Amino acid sequence: MTEELWTKVDGYLAGSLSGSDPVLEQVLATTSEAGLPAIQVSANQGKLLHLLARSVSAQRILEIGTLGGYSAIWLARALPPDGRLVTLEVDPKHAEVARRNIAAAGLDGVVELRLAPALDSLAQLVAEGEEPFDLVFIDADKEPYADYFTAALRLTRAGSLVVVDNVVRGGRVVDESSDDPSVRGVRKLYELVGNEERVSATALQTVGSKGYDGLMLALVTAEAPAAGSGPPARR
Ligand code: SAH
Ligand code: DHB
Ligand code: MG
Repeated sequence: MTEELWTKVDGYLAGSLSGSDPVLEQVLATTSEAGLPAIQVSANQGKLLHLLARSVSAQRILEIGTLGGYSAIWLARALPPDGRLVTLEVDPKHAEVARRNIAAAGLDGVVELRLAPALDSLAQLVAEGEEPFDLVFIDADKEPYADYFTAALRLTRAGSLVVVDNVVRGGRVVDESSDDPSVRGVRKLYELVGNEERVSATALQTVGSKGYDGLMLALVTAEAPAAGSGPPARR
């Protein structure tokens, strides 16, 4: 079982279930021609994000890590016309390509891209008293993943869904003595989420055209319980 086969199967699944999508194909071409790395989610993962957003009837979505806007477009397509997606990106070149792609997809009316280090934008969103987001997709640099998740909890409500990309890293996530900062960042996220009473979470290993990695899904179940307020909630 090789990446070649995973890629072939990914093509079959997407071809059977999603059909061709000239807009997204052009987005991938533009992104690649601009020299951005091909680290966006796969088509099947993009469709999964889209379906998750529709399943929670998302009206407000937050994305951390835009790249060329590929996942942002999949997600924003799940929004009603008056919905909103805020996406955070630190690299000006990525942001420029993403803005172009998002406009080409006809979604510049619902997508707001904030060009700044994500932790700064997240602090700003909290300070601005943003309405809670219904879905958060965390997919930027891996080292501060736990900090991104903590910020996501401040910006969501019970019923919101937090999705996190790249939580398996080719299986390296189980290496507890890894000195790879991205593995350490992801492991810190598991420790945080595993001990967080306000979410119920799982993670799935994935293979496909993007290799072997994984997605975490965390449902925000409640506000932090007051001390001594009874037995822990079902998780
Ligand atoms: N979600 C995208 C892929 C994102 S790749 C998709 O699937 O289409 C990760 C992105 O996070 C890159 O564009 C990178 O520039 C950005 N990034 C890295 N560090 C960041 C930071 N501190 N703040 C905001 N964005 C960051
Ligand atoms: C990388 C980042 C991603 O978000 C991803 O899905 C794959 C790879 C990276 O930084 O290498
Ligand atoms: Mg990713």
